[in-house]
Amino acid sequence: MTPRKAIPDDARLLAVLHASAFPRPWDEAAFEALLITFNVFGLVLDGQGFILCRAVADEAEILTLAVTPMVRRNGVGRTLVEAAAATAAARGADSLFLEVASDNAAALALYAATAFEPSGLRRGYYADGADAVVMRRTLNS
Ligand SMILES: CC(C)(COP(=O)(O)OP(=O)(O)OC[C@H]1O[C@@H](n2cnc3c(N)ncnc32)[C@H](O)[C@@H]1OP(=O)(O)O)[C@@H](O)C(=O)NCCC(=O)NCCS
Repeated sequence: MTPRKAIPDDARLLAVLHASAFPRPWDEAAFEALLITFNVFGLVLDGQGFILCRAVADEAEILTLAVTPMVRRNGVGRTLVEAAAATAAARGADSLFLEVASDNAAALALYAATAFEPSGLRRGYYADGADAVVMRRTLNS
């Protein structure tokens, strides 16, 4: 299970996967704009899921991560997070950050299982009023 690099032509594919995983999906145009941004990278497991990240200097962040419901709990999310961490480290990042809704138990468990630690809380961050937990993982250690 080795993710491939996402290219701008994958925008529709990512939008479909994202819509399978989130109640407020991002559209194809949003993904295309992100995928042509020089400091954004995406990794895809076709038909299963993807991760999108931004790397700036020595910090990287996970912008979104989606695994289609049919294949969850098979290690896809973990594989994507680990591949993103390796890619971010190879691009010079020494920290990987993310924001996750404080009521998203699956994602919180995945991030805890992949060496992220809570580093902050953003109250009322999401449109539905949920708080965001900021998490950080040290890379290259
Ligand atoms: C969160 C998400 C990406 C997890 O993907 P996944 O492929 O199912 O995760 P994995 O199978 O790699 O799980 C790895 C570990 O994370 C934890 N985990 C994942 N889902 C879990 C769940 N529903 N309940 C409890 N622990 C969970 C477990 O420790 C798991 O290891 P295990 O299966 O050996 O017990 C997926 O549920 C998803 O796409 N959710 C909707 C979108 C989302 O919330 N994205 C993240 C936004 S920040």
